[in-house]
Order: sequence, then C-alpha cells, then structure tokens
Amino acid sequence: MRKILLLIVATAACFTASGAQHFRSLDPLIEWRIDSLISLMTLEEKLGQLNQRVGGYDHSTGTIRPDDARMLREGRVGSYLGVVGAERTRRLQKIAVEESRLGIPLIFGLDVIHGFRTTFPIPLAEAATWNPELVQQAARAAAREATAAGIHWTFAPMVDIARDPRWGRIAEGAGEDPYLGAVMATAKVRGFQGELLRDSTALLACAKHFAAYGGAEAGRDYNTVDVSERTLREIYLPPFKAAVEAGVGTLMSSFNEIAGVPSSGNRWLMTDVLRGEWTFNGFVVSDWEAILEMINHRVGATRTDVGVLALNAGVDMDMVSGIYANEMVQAARAGLVTEHIVNQAVRRVLRAKFALGLFDHPYRNCDTLRERTEMLKPEYLALARKLAQQAIVLLQNKRRVLPLSKNLKRLALIGPLVDDRREPKGPWAAEGRPEDVVTVLEGVRTKLGPDVRLEVVKGCEIVGDSGVAFGRAVRAAQAADAVIVVVGERETMSGEAASRAYLDLPGRQEELVRKLAGTGRRLIVVVMSGRPLTLASVAEQCDALLQAWFLGSQSGNAIADIVFGDANPSGKLPVTFPRTLGQVPIYYNHKSTGRPPVDTLKYTSKYIDAPTTPLFPFGFGLSYTTFVYKNLRLSDSTISMEQPVRVMVDVENVGERDGEEVVQMYVQDEVASVTRPVKELKGFRRVALRAAEKKTAEFILTPDDLSFYDLNMKRVIEPGWFTVMVGGSSEAFLETRFEVR
Ligand code: NOJ
Repeated sequence: MRKILLLIVATAACFTASGAQHFRSLDPLIEWRIDSLISLMTLEEKLGQLNQRVGGYDHSTGTIRPDDARMLREGRVGSYLGVVGAERTRRLQKIAVEESRLGIPLIFGLDVIHGFRTTFPIPLAEAATWNPELVQQAARAAAREATAAGIHWTFAPMVDIARDPRWGRIAEGAGEDPYLGAVMATAKVRGFQGELLRDSTALLACAKHFAAYGGAEAGRDYNTVDVSERTLREIYLPPFKAAVEAGVGTLMSSFNEIAGVPSSGNRWLMTDVLRGEWTFNGFVVSDWEAILEMINHRVGATRTDVGVLALNAGVDMDMVSGIYANEMVQAARAGLVTEHIVNQAVRRVLRAKFALGLFDHPYRNCDTLRERTEMLKPEYLALARKLAQQAIVLLQNKRRVLPLSKNLKRLALIGPLVDDRREPKGPWAAEGRPEDVVTVLEGVRTKLGPDVRLEVVKGCEIVGDSGVAFGRAVRAAQAADAVIVVVGERETMSGEAASRAYLDLPGRQEELVRKLAGTGRRLIVVVMSGRPLTLASVAEQCDALLQAWFLGSQSGNAIADIVFGDANPSGKLPVTFPRTLGQVPIYYNHKSTGRPPVDTLKYTSKYIDAPTTPLFPFGFGLSYTTFVYKNLRLSDSTISMEQPVRVMVDVENVGERDGEEVVQMYVQDEVASVTRPVKELKGFRRVALRAAEKKTAEFILTPDDLSFYDLNMKRVIEPGWFTVMVGGSSEAFLETRFEVR
C-alpha cells in the first residue's frame, strides 16, 4: 500500500537575523490598549477607522478640503493615500490627533514600488538579479526615503505571479515563478518593514493583489480569473504566504474575481485561508474602489450590498469607495454586519497603528529636516547602480562582440531611448524624477575618454510611423566601429491598465534595427521594457542583445558598465521570453500533457506554425565568462519522507574574467497521484567565481519542497523517484535522481 505523509505546515514564528517577523504573534499590551480604545468608540468612529480617503488637499489652493477636515474632526477617517510630504501629512495628522474626540492617529499610504525619490529597477528587473539581499537593501533605502516624507505604509510588494506578458502589471512583480516570487516577497517585506516597526524608518508593507490578479484572461487588466484551487495554491498563493511568514502587516484584496467570486467579497480567501490557515494578524485593505466595483461584477445591486459582502469576507479597510464610513453605519445598525465583525476589523487596523508606534509618536514621519537630507544619498545611488547592473540580462553575444573596448574611435549611439531620461524610471516611480536619471548617452560619455567620437541619432520615436531619421542613423552606423541601439517601450506601456495585444517592439523600431544590421557593423541592441517582448527577429539581426527592463535612476551608468565590461552580466530571466505572441501563456513549469510535443509526430501538443520552445527560457542569462557544471551529487540516494536531502554541484569559471553565476536547482516528482510540473525551481545560489576558480554550490531539499496538494487538497509527500536538475537556466542542467521511501 502507498504510504502518504501529511505535512504539518509550521506556523510558528521563526526569527532570523535578517528579518524580524512582525505580526506573527500578538503583543498582550497592545491588545489591551486596543480593547480599552474600542470600548470607547462609537460605531461611526469604528467605521471611520476602516475608511481610507485619497488626497485630502485641494490641488489648486493647497489647503485641506473642508470635507476632509470635518470628517477628520468627527473621527471618520482612518487613513490617507496619496498625501506626500512631512508638512502635508503633519497638518492632516494634527487634526486627527488634536481635534478629534479620541485622537486616533492616521496612517499614510503610498505606492512605493521600486524606490521613492531614488528609483531602483522595476520589480521584474529586481527579480532578474536573483539577489534577494540587494533587493532587501533597496526596499530598505526606499523605506528610509518614503518615511522621511510622511509615509508610513507602502502598497508593495506586488507579489502576483504573471504568466502572460500581455498583462502590463507583470512589470510590478517578480515574474512567473512561485519560488522566486516567494523569495523576492520575503526580501521586500523585510526591507520595507525593517527590524523594528516603531522605528521611524519602518515602512509597513502590503502584499498585493490578493489573489491571482495576474491570472487575468487574455492578459487584459482587471479581467476575469478562473483558476483551480490547485493552481491557486501551487502557483498564485505561495508568494503571499511567504509575505505573511515574513511578517507583512497588510494585504490588498484584488480587483478580479476567481471562479465566480470577486476577491474583495471572498470570505474563503480572506478569512479561511489568510486568517485561518496562515494565522495572519494584520489587516486587509481593498484595492481602489474594489468594494464598490463589486456592483459591476454584479454580486450586489447597491453600495450596502457590496459593503456588507466585503466586510463580512474580511476586508478591513475600504480604499476610496467610502462605503464603510457611510452605508455600513446603517447596515451595522440593521444587523447586516455584526458588531463583532466591525470590532475585529477595527482591532486589526489599530494593531498596525500601535505596532508602528503612532499613538506615542503620531508625527514620527513629519520631520522636514530628515525629508531634506534623506533623498538620493550616494549610498542609495550606488545600490541602484549595482542592482541595475545585476538586473541586465545578456541574451545573446554572437562573435563575443561584448564587452566593447573603450579604445574605439567612433561609436554610434542610436534609438529613441538612447538619451531618454523619462522612460527608464518605469511605471510607479513615486517621487522619482527624470532629471535624476542617467541616460545611456550620459553613462557612455562618462565612461569613455574624449578621444572616442560619439554619433548620436534617435532614428525614430518609440511609437508612431515616422522613419525620417533612418537615413541619418544608417550613415552614423556606417561611419562607426560599433553601434549601440537602445529601443523598447514607453514606461506607460506597462504597469496598471497597460495590457498589450502585441508584444513586438512598438512603432518602427524593429525596422530601425534591421536597417542598422544592414551596415554590417557590430550591432548591440539594448531593450528597455516592462515585460518580455517578442524579439526573435531582433535577435536574428543583431550581434549582442541586452534586456535592460526599466532600470531607474542609474540606468545609463549600469548599461555602460555592462557594455564596456566594468561589470560582468549576471542577470537571469525571471520570466520566459516567447518567440511569438501565439505561444502566450508560456512558462517553464508547465505540465507534461498526455501528448508531450514531438517534432516528428503530428498528434502531439504543439503548433503547426511555430515551435513550442521559448526564444529565451526562464532562468537564462549569459556572462562574459563561461561556467562549467560538474559532479552533481546527493547526500543520499534514498531518503525517508521526513528526511532532507543535500544537493551539491561543482561550478567552475573556465573563462578569463571574474563573474557571478546564479546556480539553479529544479526538481521533478516523476510519478504522483496528481499531475506535477515538468520541473519546479526549488533553490538558487548566486556564486561569485574568479577566473579559473571552482566552488561547490549546496542546496537542501526539505520534505516541504517535495510535497504537493493531493486529490483532497492536503499537502503530502508521496514515495517514489524525484529527478534533481541543476544548471544556469531552466533548460541547461545536470541531472540525478533519488528515491523517497
Ligand atoms: C490601484 C492599484 O491596483 C493598486 O496596486 C494601487 O496600490 C492602488 N491603485 C493605489 O494607488
């Protein structure tokens, strides 16, 4: 008989040096203070704590809007979003604390996604570093800047798994893989929140969008999601669970429905899974008017209907719709929501405010001196540059044209993004400013001496039909020793409400690349984008291809560092690059199917007009040196179900340059009672290797890594054989096997 072991998923807090796990256990003193405060509150004041308003100020006059002032005095606002600045937040806070009956402080939230004033690479690019330590440091730096400008709370990290690059918000997350997503979620939560929430640099984090928002049909933002509970638990939920385990203070309910239930009214998700299974003690805020939008979803006809749904489901704070502060007063009086439900939501919101120390220091983030001195510090810029270098993925390097020598005579710098300082900021750049962005031209100019002549031609725009400058671009290329062409998307083409139905380079940029290729000069293409584009024809035309995402403030410096070899590329794709749009969704951890594709067999799972393989696989990225993998071995070839197994591999740098390699480990459960992916990432290590140096990378595979959800949605390990695959991408690897008995 088959033996099946049920795993008990540990919920106990586990403290590590690099991250305090806030909200994992309750502080009796805080709970006592909350009890006494709640006992003093009227129903209106309670629902006021659950009400998040936007703006607060009249744009034209810069004064507080009368409605806001009134509601603050009445204790009917719990939070603001989108109010920035030590002085502006202080003025609103003063009314809440000094002029309302109970003086409960406000909590100020903002989208601090990849930096505040210093702009770090977009989250998808950060994930391409596979360097959680650096990502954590960047989140810490963003927290320092944002908290100096009055902010207590960021609506980040976005931990949505995205398998469809048409979806513009793929730019905001860590890509397609739940394991990498969970690692990045943990790093960001730790970075934002820091060690001590009461510290004035701690920024409360918010894992969003709960849940499966990235599963939007056809990649169209806000669209319907219909995934099985298995896919939800195996693919979409792990980064949220990781964020909760890392002590995230809040979650945001998503806009979408899942299988007929809008998330903001999904009691199973918000209460049974989040609070029940995962023992989350923080609070849930809705997305922007997501409660109100349940009327459009047609699960309720009135504001009262949808408000009742949301509050009962476990959404504690209402972003912008104003339903909690208004309609829910009547609804509570009529018994449509119980006092217990209201108190529970209020308790969670107050818990976060107590944890941040706002009752004792309501003006903790309102220090104008700190606001003036905290921004764009040299150490933040150095970090932004390092992160950007590691985020760049070298996709192709024919004839080893890269790195370029600095002793060129003439270099052509071409393309609409070559001297652009707006787009590299990427979407959701908070207070990031174009004037703080180093362009590629500037980065290259700083790097090269005055003897190198630079020919700079835009060639064409990012979008639009004009190719009037093609001729000039070609002439500049002809006269040069090498050509760098910087092409891509506008930053507004990714992020929210920026889904695309085509994934090729917009406008006439592909044609520009083709024309430049015709000159026969060494051609280096740098692509800036918030998503994978279909680059097959570009790759064919050029010698070297660099995926540079949107890299933020230090874009140009980092790109120049890579192009001229001052930094060796080490980024790896956090998402699969398709050959063609028709392959989408395409991801590495797919299932086998009953008819895996075979080129020579017609009735197998494939296309008649395109391969099934990607252009560049998940985990892929080249270096200027070569790494050789050898001697993959295991601590045991047979283990019991409770036993971990140690995986070791030797990695040698056989080239002439120092470099860093991201060693990746994948596992396949060969036969199981439900279908399992062909492979799943279960570990990675970033290893620095000097030329000719060899190191052993080591991983531990735990019983949890080998487990999955069985037919009854219970997490189990089944006995049998597992294949372990190790290498520098999801495709190139050494293999070995072991048996679980
Ligand atoms: C809507 C977006 O979906 C969400 O991610 C963001 O945090 C809120 N707006 C607030 O800006």
